Amino acid sequence: MKITTISDLQKWKQKKQKFAAITAYDATFAKLFYEQGIHVILVGDSLGMTIQGHNSTLPVTIKDMIYHTSCVRRGAPSCLLLADLPFMSYATDAETFNNSAALMQVGANMIKLEGGDLWVINTVKKLTQRSIPVCSHLGLTPQSINIFGGYKIQGRDTISSEKILNSALSLESAGSQLLVLECVSFDLAKRITNALTIPVIGIGAGNITDGQILVMQDVLGITGENTPSFAKNFFSTGENIQDAIRHYVNDVESSVFPSSENTFY
Ligand code: KIV
Repeated sequence: MKITTISDLQKWKQKKQKFAAITAYDATFAKLFYEQGIHVILVGDSLGMTIQGHNSTLPVTIKDMIYHTSCVRRGAPSCLLLADLPFMSYATDAETFNNSAALMQVGANMIKLEGGDLWVINTVKKLTQRSIPVCSHLGLTPQSINIFGGYKIQGRDTISSEKILNSALSLESAGSQLLVLECVSFDLAKRITNALTIPVIGIGAGNITDGQILVMQDVLGITGENTPSFAKNFFSTGENIQDAIRHYVNDVESSVFPSSENTFY
């Protein structure tokens, strides 16, 4: 079993080889995803909605994240495993270090944190200096939903798009090794993907990014009326969950997904 590392993602970016990632929250799905060709899994704080039934990610605790990260790791020992630091779990240095260490100790390879303001950039620097690998998350950052006033496309005007691009460059300089870019236009995603040397994983950012990620319930078409327009139900054309995941992986690797229907321009 070959273990996927951040160096593999780096090589894939250089070779322009697209890759598919997905969220998972338990061992059974994590194993199935790995067996169907997924090498990068995120234990997202989206579990607040998908598993716990809340209407945002804000109620998720570090204890929840530790529990689900340990479950996923047992199901998929070879995947590159990212785990979210949930809302307000990285507000101070001490909390950030303890909470990140706890996620790494149950099997995360990298922690993900949202935002690109100066204090987040400094946090990234401090974490990477302490051997905690960081995936950053820019664009629509769901922990800031009450600041944004809804789940909206980000970077629509020149000032905000430049801010996202500059944050991405600063996060890379601070030591982030991966970036999740959510709900931005194709053009902004293209500028950021080309400007960075680290891999960029898009969600609602068009097929120009190095990789794609979707929430597993969206891939399986079981989210219901809140399914975002950038997502696609891959279960509708297959016989079973395994087919749906293979279809998702193949469509990402061949740049068929996301199509123009699932892209913001
Ligand atoms: O929490 C999550 O699932 C995420 C993805 C939407 C990227 O952050």
